[in-house]
Amino acid sequence: MSPAIFIDALQDELQSIKYGQDPPELYDPIQYIMSLGGKRMRPLLTLLGAYLFTDDWKKAIRPALGVEVFHNFTLMHDDIMDRAPLRRGQPTVHEKWNGNVAILSGDVMLVNAYQLLLNVEADKLAPALARFSRTAAEVCEGQQMDMNFETRWDVSEAEYIDMIRLKTSVLLGYALELGGLIGGADDETNRQLYEGGMNIGIGFQLKDDLLDVYGDPIKFGKQVGGDIIANKKTFLLIEALAQAKGTIRDELIDWLTRTEFSKPEKVSAVTAIYDQLGIRQLTETRINEYFTRGFTNFDQVNADYDRKMLLIQFARQLVERES
Ligand code: IPE
Ligand code: IPE
Ligand code: MG
Ligand code: MG
Ligand code: MG
Repeated sequence: MSPAIFIDALQDELQSIKYGQDPPELYDPIQYIMSLGGKRMRPLLTLLGAYLFTDDWKKAIRPALGVEVFHNFTLMHDDIMDRAPLRRGQPTVHEKWNGNVAILSGDVMLVNAYQLLLNVEADKLAPALARFSRTAAEVCEGQQMDMNFETRWDVSEAEYIDMIRLKTSVLLGYALELGGLIGGADDETNRQLYEGGMNIGIGFQLKDDLLDVYGDPIKFGKQVGGDIIANKKTFLLIEALAQAKGTIRDELIDWLTRTEFSKPEKVSAVTAIYDQLGIRQLTETRINEYFTRGFTNFDQVNADYDRKMLLIQFARQLVERES
């Protein structure tokens, strides 16, 4: 079995989903963002999770796509909140249409996500929806913390980890747990899958923060430096604030507090400070630590070895990803 089979199955089913037609301003942006691609990591995790316990992994396809539609809804709203011009190499929905369109299309996508999740078998539907609802609320909590942190200067590493656990990791944890649930795993196993998904999710967001500074703009598909421009309290900035002393610190604070600045100048000046402080290596070390924790969680899951390796190998690629 290769992950390509799962990806193809997801892609085929995606083509058949009807989000709605009229008014076009409501539904066209959904078709737009869903057709821009992306890694499809969350639904793939659901299928890999189901395949650990059953050959009948196809029954997880539509619920898995529910998780993907939910993810894309969060991106549509996140791009408004982050004032982001680019997503997957193309204009964001609020840029191509407008902010109100992006708000309302996103709202319908949340409904679409629930409709897809309704395809979980009846005896597992209640826990699947209850855990999803909890997770979705947590993503909103994390997103609000992310916004609150933009104007704070004293965010600790622990607060940052808690914020990314909520905005990003819980959904990866849920995606895997949902696969386990659909595949027929017991509660303890599903908890281990969730835990592993959470740990790789933290590593994944740390890597996202790193790529936001050091990524190749073409491969990354998002505005490189966007986090620096918005004073996002990323792992990189929090570490730089903790380590910078003397004139480097003054320079960093100066860039963070300027109300008028050239965006490219701010991005290159703050990046140069990160370089001087060795922030890149520090972030890479932390990324590896969280992924390693996740692999250890997966190792402990009681399932077929080869099927577990499929999951671990997929997760390994995320450490080195460039997009
Ligand atoms: C972007 O997620 C948002 C984060 C949680 C960092 P992905 O990097 O999975 O985005 P796509 O779906 O592949 O475009
Ligand atoms: C996004 O974090 C998390 C969610 C969308 C919930 P980011 O704001 O870092 O994601 P990108 O970089 O825009 O994809
Ligand atoms: Mg954001
Ligand atoms: Mg963003
Ligand atoms: Mg980001």
